[in-house]
Amino acid sequence: MGLLRNIRIWTQKCLLDRGFLLERINRTQVIPTVIAAPELYRRPDDYSRLLKPWHDPAYSDVFTDEVTSNTMLSPMKLYYLHRFITQVRDLPGDVFEAGTGSGGSSRLLLNAVKKQSQHREMWLLDTFEGYQKVDAVRDGAHVQVNQCRCASFEDVHRLLQEPTVPVHLIKGLIPATLDEVKAVTFAFAHIDVNLHEPTLAAFEFCLQRLVLGGIIVFDDYGWPATYGARCAIDEVATKHGQNIIYLGEQAFLIKR
Ligand SMILES: C[S@@+](CC[C@H](N)C(=O)[O-])C[C@H]1O[C@@H](n2cnc3c(N)ncnc32)[C@H](O)[C@@H]1O
Repeated sequence: MGLLRNIRIWTQKCLLDRGFLLERINRTQVIPTVIAAPELYRRPDDYSRLLKPWHDPAYSDVFTDEVTSNTMLSPMKLYYLHRFITQVRDLPGDVFEAGTGSGGSSRLLLNAVKKQSQHREMWLLDTFEGYQKVDAVRDGAHVQVNQCRCASFEDVHRLLQEPTVPVHLIKGLIPATLDEVKAVTFAFAHIDVNLHEPTLAAFEFCLQRLVLGGIIVFDDYGWPATYGARCAIDEVATKHGQNIIYLGEQAFLIKR
Protein backbone atom coordinates (compact mmCIF):
# COMPACT_ATOMS: atom_id res chain seq x y z
CA MET A 1 0.00 0.00 0.00
CA GLY A 2 2.74 2.43 1.12
CA LEU A 3 4.85 1.67 -1.96
CA LEU A 4 1.89 2.16 -4.34
CA ARG A 5 1.05 5.47 -2.66
CA ASN A 6 4.66 6.67 -2.98
CA ILE A 7 4.70 5.71 -6.67
CA ARG A 8 1.44 7.63 -7.24
CA ILE A 9 2.76 10.74 -5.47
CA TRP A 10 6.06 10.55 -7.36
CA THR A 11 4.26 10.14 -10.72
CA GLN A 12 1.98 13.12 -9.97
CA LYS A 13 4.97 15.22 -8.99
CA CYS A 14 6.80 14.41 -12.23
CA LEU A 15 3.71 15.26 -14.29
CA LEU A 16 3.21 18.50 -12.39
CA ASP A 17 6.88 19.41 -12.82
CA ARG A 18 6.49 19.01 -16.55
CA GLY A 19 3.32 21.09 -16.56
CA PHE A 20 1.23 18.20 -17.98
CA LEU A 21 -1.44 18.37 -15.29
CA LEU A 22 -1.52 22.14 -15.38
CA GLU A 23 -2.00 22.07 -19.12
CA ARG A 24 -4.91 19.71 -18.68
CA ILE A 25 -6.45 21.97 -16.02
CA ASN A 26 -6.04 25.03 -18.24
CA ARG A 27 -7.18 23.51 -21.51
CA THR A 28 -10.47 25.43 -21.43
CA GLN A 29 -8.79 28.85 -21.11
CA VAL A 30 -10.06 31.40 -23.70
CA ILE A 31 -7.17 32.69 -25.82
CA PRO A 32 -8.70 35.24 -28.25
CA THR A 33 -7.21 35.24 -31.76
CA VAL A 34 -6.42 38.99 -31.49
CA ILE A 35 -3.62 38.29 -29.00
CA ALA A 36 -0.26 39.17 -30.54
CA ALA A 37 1.86 36.61 -28.67
CA PRO A 38 -0.38 33.77 -27.39
CA GLU A 39 2.66 31.76 -26.28
CA LEU A 40 3.14 34.28 -23.43
CA TYR A 41 -0.04 32.85 -21.86
CA ARG A 42 1.19 29.23 -22.02
CA ARG A 43 1.35 26.93 -18.99
CA PRO A 44 0.69 29.10 -15.90
CA ASP A 45 2.87 28.28 -12.92
CA ASP A 46 1.28 26.55 -9.95
CA TYR A 47 0.85 29.08 -7.13
CA SER A 48 -1.38 26.80 -5.12
CA ARG A 49 1.44 25.49 -2.91
CA LEU A 50 2.90 28.87 -1.95
CA LEU A 51 2.44 31.16 1.07
CA LYS A 52 -1.07 32.64 1.58
CA PRO A 53 -0.82 35.36 4.26
CA TRP A 54 -4.60 35.95 4.14
CA HIS A 55 -5.15 32.69 6.06
CA ASP A 56 -3.71 34.43 9.12
CA PRO A 57 -6.56 35.25 11.59
CA ALA A 58 -5.45 38.90 11.47
CA TYR A 59 -6.99 39.04 7.98
CA SER A 60 -10.51 38.18 9.15
CA ASP A 61 -11.03 41.95 9.56
CA VAL A 62 -10.21 42.48 5.89
CA PHE A 63 -11.91 39.42 4.38
CA THR A 64 -15.32 40.10 5.93
CA ASP A 65 -18.49 38.38 4.63
CA GLU A 66 -19.59 41.68 3.08
CA VAL A 67 -16.42 41.64 1.01
CA THR A 68 -16.07 37.96 0.09
CA SER A 69 -19.71 37.31 -0.75
CA ASN A 70 -19.91 40.32 -3.10
CA THR A 71 -16.77 40.03 -5.20
CA MET A 72 -15.37 38.10 -8.14
CA LEU A 73 -11.85 38.73 -6.86
CA SER A 74 -9.79 35.83 -5.51
CA PRO A 75 -8.33 36.06 -1.99
CA MET A 76 -4.93 36.76 -3.55
CA LYS A 77 -6.31 39.76 -5.48
CA LEU A 78 -8.13 41.07 -2.40
CA TYR A 79 -4.90 40.69 -0.45
CA TYR A 80 -2.99 42.83 -2.97
CA LEU A 81 -5.74 45.48 -3.02
CA HIS A 82 -5.55 45.69 0.74
CA ARG A 83 -1.75 45.91 0.82
CA PHE A 84 -1.69 48.65 -1.84
CA ILE A 85 -4.37 50.85 -0.26
CA THR A 86 -2.50 50.46 3.03
CA GLN A 87 0.71 51.56 1.30
CA VAL A 88 -0.81 54.99 0.39
CA ARG A 89 -2.29 55.66 3.81
CA ASP A 90 -0.24 58.85 4.40
CA LEU A 91 -0.83 60.34 0.93
CA PRO A 92 -3.59 62.90 0.35
CA GLY A 93 -6.33 62.22 -2.20
CA ASP A 94 -9.56 60.37 -2.87
CA VAL A 95 -10.14 56.77 -3.93
CA PHE A 96 -11.49 55.82 -7.38
CA GLU A 97 -12.85 52.53 -8.65
CA ALA A 98 -14.00 51.72 -12.20
CA GLY A 99 -15.94 48.44 -12.10
CA THR A 100 -17.62 48.22 -8.70
CA GLY A 101 -19.61 45.12 -9.70
CA SER A 102 -21.48 43.77 -6.68
CA GLY A 103 -19.42 46.01 -4.39
CA GLY A 104 -17.04 43.55 -2.69
CA SER A 105 -13.79 45.20 -3.77
CA SER A 106 -15.26 48.65 -2.94
CA ARG A 107 -16.26 47.43 0.52
CA LEU A 108 -12.70 46.22 1.17
CA LEU A 109 -11.31 49.60 0.10
CA LEU A 110 -13.92 51.41 2.19
CA ASN A 111 -13.01 49.37 5.28
CA ALA A 112 -9.37 50.35 4.79
CA VAL A 113 -10.17 54.06 4.17
CA LYS A 114 -12.24 54.12 7.36
CA LYS A 115 -9.10 53.30 9.37
CA GLN A 116 -6.87 55.90 7.68
CA SER A 117 -6.35 59.34 9.15
CA GLN A 118 -6.46 61.18 5.77
CA HIS A 119 -9.91 62.47 4.81
CA ARG A 120 -10.93 60.69 1.59
CA GLU A 121 -14.02 60.45 -0.56
CA MET A 122 -14.73 57.38 -2.67
CA TRP A 123 -15.81 57.57 -6.33
CA LEU A 124 -17.20 54.22 -7.50
CA LEU A 125 -18.38 53.71 -11.09
CA ASP A 126 -20.28 50.94 -12.89
CA THR A 127 -23.15 50.46 -15.32
CA PHE A 128 -24.70 48.13 -12.70
CA GLU A 129 -26.05 46.33 -15.78
CA GLY A 130 -22.92 44.52 -17.00
CA TYR A 131 -21.27 45.30 -20.33
CA GLN A 132 -23.42 47.77 -22.28
CA LYS A 133 -20.89 48.50 -25.05
CA VAL A 134 -18.25 46.12 -26.38
CA ASP A 135 -15.64 46.36 -29.11
CA ALA A 136 -15.43 43.06 -31.00
CA VAL A 137 -12.08 43.99 -32.55
CA ARG A 138 -10.24 45.24 -29.46
CA ASP A 139 -11.88 43.02 -26.83
CA GLY A 140 -12.46 39.92 -28.96
CA ALA A 141 -15.54 38.16 -30.32
CA HIS A 142 -15.99 36.18 -27.07
CA VAL A 143 -17.20 39.37 -25.29
CA GLN A 144 -20.94 40.12 -25.52
CA VAL A 145 -23.26 42.91 -24.33
CA ASN A 146 -25.00 42.11 -20.99
CA GLN A 147 -22.27 39.74 -19.80
CA CYS A 148 -20.70 40.34 -16.39
CA ARG A 149 -23.94 41.53 -14.74
CA CYS A 150 -23.49 41.95 -11.00
CA ALA A 151 -25.80 43.21 -8.21
CA SER A 152 -28.21 46.13 -8.68
CA PHE A 153 -27.31 49.75 -7.93
CA GLU A 154 -29.69 49.68 -4.92
CA ASP A 155 -28.06 46.55 -3.40
CA VAL A 156 -24.56 47.95 -3.86
CA HIS A 157 -25.67 51.28 -2.39
CA ARG A 158 -26.91 49.43 0.71
CA LEU A 159 -23.65 47.49 1.02
CA LEU A 160 -21.57 50.67 0.95
CA GLN A 161 -23.34 52.67 3.65
CA GLU A 162 -20.65 54.25 5.84
CA PRO A 163 -21.36 57.30 7.98
CA THR A 164 -17.72 58.41 8.25
CA VAL A 165 -16.68 58.24 4.57
CA PRO A 166 -18.46 60.07 1.69
CA VAL A 167 -19.22 57.43 -0.98
CA HIS A 168 -20.28 58.54 -4.50
CA LEU A 169 -21.79 55.63 -6.40
CA ILE A 170 -22.10 56.60 -10.08
CA LYS A 171 -24.23 54.57 -12.47
CA GLY A 172 -23.68 54.58 -16.24
CA LEU A 173 -21.14 54.02 -18.98
CA ILE A 174 -17.51 55.05 -18.64
CA PRO A 175 -16.20 57.27 -20.28
CA ALA A 176 -19.36 59.49 -20.09
CA THR A 177 -19.74 59.16 -16.29
CA LEU A 178 -16.18 60.36 -15.61
CA ASP A 179 -17.59 63.92 -15.86
CA GLU A 180 -19.50 63.27 -12.62
CA VAL A 181 -16.31 62.58 -10.67
CA LYS A 182 -15.45 65.85 -8.94
CA ALA A 183 -12.28 64.69 -7.15
CA VAL A 184 -9.24 66.93 -7.49
CA THR A 185 -6.63 64.32 -6.55
CA PHE A 186 -6.49 60.57 -6.01
CA ALA A 187 -4.19 58.58 -3.75
CA PHE A 188 -5.44 55.23 -5.03
CA ALA A 189 -7.42 53.77 -7.92
CA HIS A 190 -8.69 50.30 -8.81
CA ILE A 191 -9.58 49.68 -12.45
CA ASP A 192 -11.63 46.52 -13.04
CA VAL A 193 -13.87 46.99 -16.09
CA ASN A 194 -12.39 44.19 -18.26
CA LEU A 195 -12.78 46.10 -21.57
CA HIS A 196 -10.53 48.31 -23.68
CA GLU A 197 -12.46 51.61 -23.95
CA PRO A 198 -13.46 52.12 -20.28
CA THR A 199 -10.03 50.92 -19.09
CA LEU A 200 -8.25 53.42 -21.33
CA ALA A 201 -10.52 56.32 -20.34
CA ALA A 202 -10.49 55.52 -16.60
CA PHE A 203 -6.70 55.11 -16.57
CA GLU A 204 -6.10 58.46 -18.37
CA PHE A 205 -8.55 60.17 -15.99
CA CYS A 206 -6.96 58.74 -12.82
CA LEU A 207 -3.38 59.22 -13.87
CA GLN A 208 -3.91 62.96 -14.41
CA ARG A 209 -5.22 63.28 -10.84
CA LEU A 210 -3.00 60.72 -9.09
CA VAL A 211 -0.52 62.22 -6.61
CA LEU A 212 3.15 61.25 -6.86
CA GLY A 213 3.59 57.88 -5.15
CA GLY A 214 -0.14 57.16 -5.60
CA ILE A 215 -1.04 53.68 -6.81
CA ILE A 216 -3.34 52.26 -9.48
CA VAL A 217 -4.20 48.54 -9.36
CA PHE A 218 -5.44 46.99 -12.62
CA ASP A 219 -7.44 43.84 -12.16
CA ASP A 220 -7.51 42.60 -15.74
CA TYR A 221 -3.92 42.58 -16.90
CA GLY A 222 -3.08 38.90 -16.96
CA TRP A 223 -6.16 37.11 -18.31
CA PRO A 224 -6.12 36.40 -22.05
CA ALA A 225 -9.89 36.98 -22.12
CA THR A 226 -9.32 40.61 -21.04
CA TYR A 227 -6.50 41.28 -23.49
CA GLY A 228 -8.25 44.48 -24.68
CA ALA A 229 -7.87 45.94 -21.17
CA ARG A 230 -4.19 45.00 -21.10
CA CYS A 231 -3.61 46.78 -24.43
CA ALA A 232 -5.30 49.92 -23.06
CA ILE A 233 -3.13 49.82 -19.91
CA ASP A 234 0.09 49.43 -21.90
CA GLU A 235 -0.94 52.20 -24.32
CA VAL A 236 -1.59 54.80 -21.60
CA ALA A 237 1.45 53.77 -19.53
CA THR A 238 3.78 54.06 -22.53
CA LYS A 239 2.30 57.44 -23.54
CA HIS A 240 2.95 58.86 -20.05
CA GLY A 241 6.26 57.09 -19.30
CA GLN A 242 4.77 55.08 -16.42
CA ASN A 243 5.98 51.64 -15.35
CA ILE A 244 3.49 48.77 -15.15
CA ILE A 245 4.40 45.99 -12.72
CA TYR A 246 2.67 42.68 -13.37
CA LEU A 247 1.79 40.53 -10.36
CA GLY A 248 0.50 37.33 -11.96
CA GLU A 249 -3.15 38.38 -12.50
CA GLN A 250 -3.35 42.04 -11.56
CA ALA A 251 -0.81 44.72 -12.39
CA PHE A 252 -0.09 48.01 -10.66
CA LEU A 253 1.76 51.26 -11.05
CA ILE A 254 3.23 53.70 -8.56
CA LYS A 255 3.12 57.19 -10.08
CA ARG A 256 6.56 58.66 -10.71
C1 LIG B 1 -15.23 42.14 -13.14
S1 LIG B 1 -16.60 43.18 -12.81
C2 LIG B 1 -16.10 44.09 -11.38
C3 LIG B 1 -15.85 43.21 -10.20
C4 LIG B 1 -15.76 43.90 -8.87
N1 LIG B 1 -14.65 44.83 -8.78
C5 LIG B 1 -15.70 42.85 -7.76
O1 LIG B 1 -15.17 43.15 -6.67
O2 LIG B 1 -16.21 41.75 -7.97
C6 LIG B 1 -16.51 44.30 -14.12
C7 LIG B 1 -17.54 45.40 -14.05
O3 LIG B 1 -17.23 46.37 -15.05
C8 LIG B 1 -18.46 46.97 -15.41
N2 LIG B 1 -18.26 47.67 -16.70
C9 LIG B 1 -17.82 47.17 -17.87
N3 LIG B 1 -17.80 48.13 -18.81
C10 LIG B 1 -18.17 49.30 -18.20
C11 LIG B 1 -18.31 50.65 -18.64
N4 LIG B 1 -18.03 51.03 -19.89
N5 LIG B 1 -18.72 51.56 -17.75
C12 LIG B 1 -19.00 51.22 -16.46
N6 LIG B 1 -18.89 49.95 -15.99
C13 LIG B 1 -18.47 49.00 -16.85
C14 LIG B 1 -19.44 45.80 -15.48
O4 LIG B 1 -20.77 46.25 -15.35
C15 LIG B 1 -18.97 44.93 -14.31
O5 LIG B 1 -19.73 45.15 -13.15
